[in-house]
Amino acid sequence: MKLSSLSRSIAGKTAIVTGAASGMGRATARLFADEGANVAALDINADALAEVTGEIEAAGRPVRGWQLDLADKDAVERVIGAVADTFGGIDILINNAGIGAGGAIDSDNYEATWQRGFDVLLTAHVRTIRAALPWLRQSDGARIVNIASTEGLGATKYGSAYSAAKTGVIGLTRSLAVEFGAEGITVNCICPGPIRTGMTDAIPEASKQEYARRRVALKRYAEPEEVAHATLSLVLPAASFITGVALPVDGGLTIKNA
Ligand code: NAI
Repeated sequence: MKLSSLSRSIAGKTAIVTGAASGMGRATARLFADEGANVAALDINADALAEVTGEIEAAGRPVRGWQLDLADKDAVERVIGAVADTFGGIDILINNAGIGAGGAIDSDNYEATWQRGFDVLLTAHVRTIRAALPWLRQSDGARIVNIASTEGLGATKYGSAYSAAKTGVIGLTRSLAVEFGAEGITVNCICPGPIRTGMTDAIPEASKQEYARRRVALKRYAEPEEVAHATLSLVLPAASFITGVALPVDGGLTIKNA
């Protein structure tokens, strides 16, 4: 006999993971599949997406991949509808896809960087949430997790577009937590610190180690699985009273002064 009524299982739930072809999205899709969820894997990169879905299928888990550009409003609406048709609903939405959007504010292509950055890092989240909402409302214990960044809590030189978008993700999360509160839909975000993914691949290993030594309490970059597990914790049925949180998963980056 179970002594607790709160479940730590997402088995049978349908979860959308954006940016599922690489890094944290890939780790999250794999972990959620391991935990028995139906995984809808969304990404712009068709080849990498096919690899990830193939791998999950080979493990005997239910998964479908959809190639799309999340900056395309019509594509977002079409794909979210197709996910709900395929799996019979939507319970969990993980807005994870992202791009770097760095550059000095007086650089020639700043306007384009800002626009694309906001389209992918913030507006896409709004659109997936709006499109998924009718199904989330029908779910018993719907969960939304947005992947923000420690750049939404602090800032780095030449990161203004990225930082502004990630700060926006935190604001969106908090406001929607209040808006959906009465319906029992929780909305949280995670602020990852330095993680080994496609996004940080080009940073030389020596620079990674030096940065981690100076800034990160745990003295290292994280693996994407370590963020995926934090994401899983926020979407469990048992996480029913956690909402509007911006959770750093950063090895102590944001508590270090020097
Ligand atoms: P990644 O580059 O390994 O994965 C990002 C995925 O998003 C890729 O598969 C890419 O194809 C997909 N994507 C990009 N633009 C897209 C679009 N328009 N439509 C559909 N899919 C698109 O990067 P990573 O690090 O796993 O990024 C995941 C999230 O974590 C992002 O939101 C990023 O900003 C955030 N983040 C990353 C940190 C790091 O140290 N790697 C630190 C803090 C936040």
